[in-house]
Amino acid sequence: MKRFHVTTFGCQMNEHDSERMKGMLESLGYAEASVREEADLILFNTCSIREKADERFVSHLYDARALKRRDPERVIGVGGCWAQSVKDQVFRDYPFVDVAFGPGQVHKLAEFLTSDSLTAQGFFEFEGFTGHLPGKRARDVHAWVQISAGCNMKCSYCIVPSTRGREVSRPFEELVDEVRQLAAEGVREVTLLGQNVNSYGTRLRPEPRKFSELLRAVDAIDGIDRIRYTSPHPAHMTEDVILAHAELDSVCQHIHLPLQAGSSRVLKRMRRTYGRERFLDRVALIREHVPDCAITTDIIVGFPGETEADFVETLEVVEEVGFDGAFTFIYSPRRDTEAAEFVDEFVPHEEQVERMERLVEAVQRRARERAQRFVGRTLDVLVEGPSRYDPAQLRGRTTHNKVVNFDGLAAPGEIVAVEIATATSQSLTGSESLLSRVA
Ligand code: SAH
Ligand code: SF4
Ligand code: F3S
Repeated sequence: MKRFHVTTFGCQMNEHDSERMKGMLESLGYAEASVREEADLILFNTCSIREKADERFVSHLYDARALKRRDPERVIGVGGCWAQSVKDQVFRDYPFVDVAFGPGQVHKLAEFLTSDSLTAQGFFEFEGFTGHLPGKRARDVHAWVQISAGCNMKCSYCIVPSTRGREVSRPFEELVDEVRQLAAEGVREVTLLGQNVNSYGTRLRPEPRKFSELLRAVDAIDGIDRIRYTSPHPAHMTEDVILAHAELDSVCQHIHLPLQAGSSRVLKRMRRTYGRERFLDRVALIREHVPDCAITTDIIVGFPGETEADFVETLEVVEEVGFDGAFTFIYSPRRDTEAAEFVDEFVPHEEQVERMERLVEAVQRRARERAQRFVGRTLDVLVEGPSRYDPAQLRGRTTHNKVVNFDGLAAPGEIVAVEIATATSQSLTGSESLLSRVA
């Protein structure tokens, strides 16, 4: 029996695509190898969001070349966003790669593997969805559900529109059926995925749909206890979506709302289509309807032309909002993006690093302060498995997406009440409430 190994880089969408690759390979009779060295088919699902992502991946790719030199029968495949963005050079620059395919072409891998010539084939069309591939879920009770592909925004720093193509929404009924099926298989939590999830459905025909309608339909499915989604765009964060968090039990008390920058001038040059006031107004609306909702974000520092005064505006928004957490990035120029042309205005690296340090300090301090609201409360925690720090403890997540390491007896997949004892910016600790066991 042939064996495969997949290494995944990048976002949740890629994790999900990898699950589909694995499911498809198993249906072709392949088995998963636990280490790359033992695989006949070495696959990479790649990301190109920042330069670091490319560098990390390429060193893995050379490692695969070394394995192939030892055993030339091995097949090396590269899928995902990096593959798409270098589609014209990939076989020239990396001649040991046998197959390359973009994010919309996962299903073509099967065609390739069953074809006569197992070398130098590329598949890069955007075809909307990667078929109805059987997924192999990493966790029994959690599933990713891709609701749309591609992105129609034109954020000037971002490579994604060129790697994932124009936005296409999946049919509403098909999604509801898929989640119903997942619930029947024991899934309790779903994460709806899209580059811009809350613009879901506006171009569906004959009947346009709204993202909030989808939330309502999924909430109504028996067995689904938690609904998450990522990433929404602040410009499309309408009141009906926020109300879904307030009114529907299974929609989690967490919204990831990417800020990117606090200065309206920078946001404009990023082509984010909202300014500082609109972002703060969305936060106010969330806090009005869903006071306990966790709000997390993404922030880029050192975007071309960002002045000290612009950066201070980002710090001000961070102080004012008090995010429950944030992913922070140093701006990285990407091929074929508008901002990569702003070379004259690139912020020197030392300055980017210095701003990053100040940003991280503010983000962590505010997150730690925010997290204190949980201490002394009893929260529902969906158990994921043993704690990564202490295998005698369990690890799970609250509806706010906070990780909790706690003492308890529950099994993975159970939702249990946990009394929260301490909180840092990153995680909580506590112990399973004995009362919840008795009940
Ligand atoms: N579709 C998502 C973003 C996906 S990329 C959204 O719009 O929210 C995830 C994050 O990576 C972005 O939110 C942004 O903060 C960061 N990012 C994207 N391109 C970048 C670049 N060129 N340099 C630095 N960070 C970048
Ligand atoms: Fe990139 Fe902007 Fe689309 Fe997000 S919304 S994927 S940042 S272009
Ligand atoms: Fe990376 Fe593509 Fe996701 S560039 S972040 S894998 S959409």
